[in-house]
Amino acid sequence: MNNIETADLHATFPDDFVWGVATSAYQIEGAADQDGKGLSIWDTFCRQPGVIADNSNGDIACDHYHRWEEDLDMIAGLGVDAYRFSVSWPRVRPGGSGDWNEAGLAFYERLVDGLLARGIKPYLTLNHWDLPDELQAGGGWANRATVDRFVEYALGIAYRLGDKVVSIATHNEPWVVAVLGHESGVFAPGIKNRQTAIQVSHHLLLSHGLALQALRESGCKASLGIVLNLSPMHAASDAPADLAKTRLEDGRLLRWYMDPLFKGRYPQDILDDLGDDAPVVHAGDMRAIATAMDFLGVNYYSRSVVSADKPWDVHSSGRDVTDMGWEVYPEGLTELLVRLHRDYPVPPLYVTENGGAFKDQLSDGRIHDTGRTDYIQRHIAAMADAMREGVRMGGYMVWSLMDNFEWASGYEKRFGIVHVDYDTQIRTLKDSARWYRDFLGRQKIKRSSGQ
Ligand code: FCB
Repeated sequence: MNNIETADLHATFPDDFVWGVATSAYQIEGAADQDGKGLSIWDTFCRQPGVIADNSNGDIACDHYHRWEEDLDMIAGLGVDAYRFSVSWPRVRPGGSGDWNEAGLAFYERLVDGLLARGIKPYLTLNHWDLPDELQAGGGWANRATVDRFVEYALGIAYRLGDKVVSIATHNEPWVVAVLGHESGVFAPGIKNRQTAIQVSHHLLLSHGLALQALRESGCKASLGIVLNLSPMHAASDAPADLAKTRLEDGRLLRWYMDPLFKGRYPQDILDDLGDDAPVVHAGDMRAIATAMDFLGVNYYSRSVVSADKPWDVHSSGRDVTDMGWEVYPEGLTELLVRLHRDYPVPPLYVTENGGAFKDQLSDGRIHDTGRTDYIQRHIAAMADAMREGVRMGGYMVWSLMDNFEWASGYEKRFGIVHVDYDTQIRTLKDSARWYRDFLGRQKIKRSSGQ
């Protein structure tokens, strides 16, 4: 990014700014039924014909469960400060309640110790979507009892790892679990019912708040928060119908989560719109949800353009579009971060995911993924713009460390800055990884020069 990677850009980031890479358990680990792991809802969902683009699953994925040491060396080689990963709940507590699985706990302990030994800060996510299938059989997130199981799970992980990890995020993208998992049904567990989806979102938020309270009471020292997927919503036109729909969509994606977390209430316009589908809320729930956080994670990929009557054509803006069909819109990240800072009393913000899927070509052992490199550079610059406007940012993590199982898209979409050959499991640094490594190297020189 020679044109934008200036001394100014490096100077924007304070010395304690945390640079990282991110993954999640189901997407990389494999070993789906080994060493006592129970089934997750993704294990069973992937077995349904037609739900995953290439009919694949996470049985093997990147085989990270067996190759974790080599992967940690690779992460260390990038020069990052932090690694964001998730724990597979059914690996550590196979049924979601009852016995814990020592082999699963020991795996994450080895992983965390391995990170610390390499000087990398562990950023742990508890729920990156792979709910134990046994809990789903009892209603899953639609059942309020799952909230209590999640609090137990959080405490169990903190008991084992809470002194070692730097940060614990309760949930990754509750909107995705609620809406894609329970309303459109394109993700596990594949339910299609709006009322259920809304109740699920309430239970996710409640379990987040209660877990935070329980973790704090237990003396856990890790920094605690949640990770949301957020995008600016832009109306396709100034027509009143487009503007009204845009406000509604923004309410469902952003205010439905941000308002309860930071204002202790659901947005009234969305409750009105939901009517009978509004969630059942018990006394005390909203206060629990609004428990103070140490950080807020934001996953940002693109903006949304909303039209009242027809789907928006992503190509109409003339901008680049990634292999997911998502518009490359870096200034949306600035807009979003500034808005969160302006509208809510937020703790330090972290971009916990940002990156792009592109069609990569391996030739002579190299992958010249200029599209991805450009994407990451421009988003880092956009984040720096937000910081110059006063937003308190704690860190930035690239999604993803390596190519992996991209949910309903299977292995067809590649988000990694490291290429994975799924036949041989050979990892190859793409040009984006080399650029990120060099960028972080220059950032370290700036740190040690005290500028
Ligand atoms: C996010 C997910 C992550 C990955 C990226 C592309 O919604 O958190 O697991 O799939 O999208």
